[in-house]
Amino acid sequence: MSTQTYSLAHQASIDNHETFWGEQAKRIHWHQAPTQILDNSKPPFAKWFTDGQTNLCYNAVDRWAKNNPDRIAIVHISTETETEQQISYAQLNQTVQEVAAGLMSLGVNKGDRVLLYMPMIVEAVYTMLACARIGAIHSVVFGGFASHSLASRINDATPKVIVSADAGMRGGKIIPYKNLLNEAIDIAEHKPAHVLMVNRGLTEFTPLARDIDFEQLRQKHSKASVPVQWLNSTDASYILYTSGTTGKPKGVERDVGGYAVALTTSMEQIYCAKAGDVFFCTSDIGWVVGHSYIVYAPLLAGMTTIMYEGLPIRPDAAIWWQIVEKYRVTHLFSAPTAIRVLKKHPTTMMTQHDTSSLRALFLAGEPLDEPTSQWIFDALQVPIIDNYWQTETGWPILSVARGIDAQMPTKIGSPGKPMMGYRVELIHDQTGEICADNEKGVVMIHYPLPPGCMKTLWGDDARFTKTYWSKMHGTYMYSTFDWGVRDSDGFYFILGRTDDVINVAGHRLGTREIEESILSHNKVAEVAVVGIEDTLKGQVAIAFVVLKNSDIATDQYAMIEKEIFSTVDHHLGSLARPARVYIVSVLPKTRSGKLLRRTLQAVCEGRDPGDITTIEDASALEQIKSAMNSSTQKS
Ligand code: PRX
Repeated sequence: MSTQTYSLAHQASIDNHETFWGEQAKRIHWHQAPTQILDNSKPPFAKWFTDGQTNLCYNAVDRWAKNNPDRIAIVHISTETETEQQISYAQLNQTVQEVAAGLMSLGVNKGDRVLLYMPMIVEAVYTMLACARIGAIHSVVFGGFASHSLASRINDATPKVIVSADAGMRGGKIIPYKNLLNEAIDIAEHKPAHVLMVNRGLTEFTPLARDIDFEQLRQKHSKASVPVQWLNSTDASYILYTSGTTGKPKGVERDVGGYAVALTTSMEQIYCAKAGDVFFCTSDIGWVVGHSYIVYAPLLAGMTTIMYEGLPIRPDAAIWWQIVEKYRVTHLFSAPTAIRVLKKHPTTMMTQHDTSSLRALFLAGEPLDEPTSQWIFDALQVPIIDNYWQTETGWPILSVARGIDAQMPTKIGSPGKPMMGYRVELIHDQTGEICADNEKGVVMIHYPLPPGCMKTLWGDDARFTKTYWSKMHGTYMYSTFDWGVRDSDGFYFILGRTDDVINVAGHRLGTREIEESILSHNKVAEVAVVGIEDTLKGQVAIAFVVLKNSDIATDQYAMIEKEIFSTVDHHLGSLARPARVYIVSVLPKTRSGKLLRRTLQAVCEGRDPGDITTIEDASALEQIKSAMNSSTQKS
């Protein structure tokens, strides 16, 4: 029976994890094959394929360039600049080496950091792979982040070189990357030796002494041959910053061998994808989904990856389906918010195109609601597969492993069951006991996390251990910081974050970072930011602000709200901008001054706030309610 096939395979991956992953390791090329599959000696630090040596670039590029040089590795489509480009594996192999030679000429060596602040252009992929080739550690910062966010990441990663571009474009609007980067470097304590600039000709800029033209440097190294640097499996491949409870972003550090093995395994077991297939992931290279499923996994599996710069509804809502038809896309990977955006347009936008090449649609990053799932299924008539994971894990924790069990069922509203190697547990937040079926708990994972998951937080082993790990039930357990529940059929349901992280349109944001930015506004004394439900974006941020001067007239509030919007845009980027700013005279806090966020959030969402006797000033909740009501009446 089918469910048994999955259960047996999953159980085996847990019981005999070294045998299981030792077998999967054969999917990639090793310069030196590992004899030790797992070094368990220092939990919670798991070291996979300890004595193995390999290289991500070799596995993603050289391997395929050798046997299938003419196969298209990357199709780059920009509806912003109206350009389309196809790059074969042979071309990719050559260009990556030229970029690698360029980076080396700037003094970049194994272990050095290279920070990328780039739009969705192929040069970003060349740079990531060039770093992987020479053992430099890349750190891609999402282009939607502004100068303060960027500066804090520059300070933490201390890159030797930063790679950027004059500008990006979104919906036809120019985003001046170069200006934002200059400002970030001015603020940052760490100064990179060089900035490599891709000049797209979108906006004028005056090069500074540290700036070097990307294309000129590449041409200087035209036809260069840069040997692959064989790396220890446990060396760092990249750092990717993500939000947490504090304002300081966390640098998730990934290894080399474990990541290559996990992604390659996921391509077969979860995505049922193979060499020659065409994978279209609509995320951005600045997020983990982009790292894993635009860049590394499709190339590691010898597929064609589609890289798209633009909106899903521009020039119109048919654009993705046009791409699917033109390139015979076999796998589409997106986020529920994008589908909800498309849902506002007629289904004919989709059905007018031949999407028969599509085998499945994968959605991740935020809860997938039933109407969205049903709408897209009706239109596409292919399986809609939810998958749940995190920047920290790099690949799905919960999903449907149809590559192992073709009949594995799905349940609407559930991302599925644990993938191979993840021993998931729900833990009661008060008692620490393992939850029974249908009982809400924190989603936790037993040590060791499978290959591909974070190895530590960059430069901060202590924060890694303290933030994520607890010793319980005789072992270390990793916290996902998500609430969840499992039904009696073993399907998990994700019920939101346990911490102060919010999810806006699939983008993970820390409310603390937004609060810190708002606090820098000279009129603001106190602020609380919470995420509240939104039908389109899943969640949006709402800010409640107490002003330093309580005498400011209410007719000034709209102007202050605007000023706060531009402060956040300027510091963090418009993606972090709250949907509304409400001005109140007091926030709901306990007598000891602890902000009662859950209470605040419940009131905002019109839910029962529960026990409110601990609130110091009982009028706080009334103020919140009336601030929100008066604004609803106005709008
Ligand atoms: O809260 C969960 C939510 O997104 C968080 C991770 O976000 P990020 O680090 O950006 O990684 C996204 C990788 C897909 C999780 O802690 N989340 C992610 N996927 C789902 C989800 N919530 C519900 N259903 C999902 N499929």
